[in-house]
Amino acid sequence: MATVGQIIFFTLVTLNVLLAAFIVLILTLAFSKSTSKVVSSNTKPVANLGEDQILSCYVSAESQPNRLGEVSVSWEKTDLGTVYRYENRAPALDGQASAFKGRAQVFPDAVAIGNASLLLRSVRSSDEGEYTCTIRSSVAHGTVSIQLRTAVFSVPTLKFSNSILTSEASSWFPKPDVTWLNQTGNELNANTSFTERSPGIYSLLSSLQSAKVSETYSCRIENSLVVAVTEATISGSGVLGRTFFTFSVASTQLVSFYLNIITSVLCMFYVV
Ligand SMILES: *[C@@H]1O[C@H](CO)[C@@H](O)[C@H](O)[C@H]1NC(C)=O
Repeated sequence: MATVGQIIFFTLVTLNVLLAAFIVLILTLAFSKSTSKVVSSNTKPVANLGEDQILSCYVSAESQPNRLGEVSVSWEKTDLGTVYRYENRAPALDGQASAFKGRAQVFPDAVAIGNASLLLRSVRSSDEGEYTCTIRSSVAHGTVSIQLRTAVFSVPTLKFSNSILTSEASSWFPKPDVTWLNQTGNELNANTSFTERSPGIYSLLSSLQSAKVSETYSCRIENSLVVAVTEATISGSGVLGRTFFTFSVASTQLVSFYLNIITSVLCMFYVV
């Protein structure tokens, strides 16, 4: 018969072993992540529907030896299967999902030096989802996941007449919000109207009253995926506008999830 002391002792030992295993697992995950040989310059790209998109995937420079040897590439999409394969210096498209026929390619010269980035032509909303890129060669091997999102966005056209500055954009999806700021960053009142051109896709016209010559205004068109900031400077002869796009990156939820795991591991450790 085990005494109460022995039971407590063995329970503690078991708990410690489990914890140690758990910590080793976490460290292994973190370590394998940081030394992963295959990487992407953008794992959460946002494609503009109807336009071409590059999905980035390559052997990272630090882990790349001078000679890669023969390189083979495989692009898969979680729900549809094979997007594109490249083996023995040629496309290998036997099992390619029909959705990608004639729309996908890698760049053979780039593949030879470890860059397996995929060009996807004329992006559709069904292209949205998770892709994995696998690069294999005699000296390097790795996989990276890429989450493709789709949106519709366009550069607005600016006009100025009778003290009214207007910003007009032909197509946005999801439906955006429009805000105007003056040079000091204060929000200005403006009227914005939307027209649904096709299901879910909107054109917009936003007008700012009593705008002044030689002032600079900033028009921000923003939805959950894309932000377009247009800096508009009014001069005697018209409006000069420059538009910058930024895209939403990894979900903040995932980041906080990781932090939570780490925090709880530390707490358990201190309790034991
Ligand atoms: C990989 O190739 C693509 C397509 O040519 C190019 O856009 C990208 O900049 C390349 N990436 C690297 C890291 O060389």
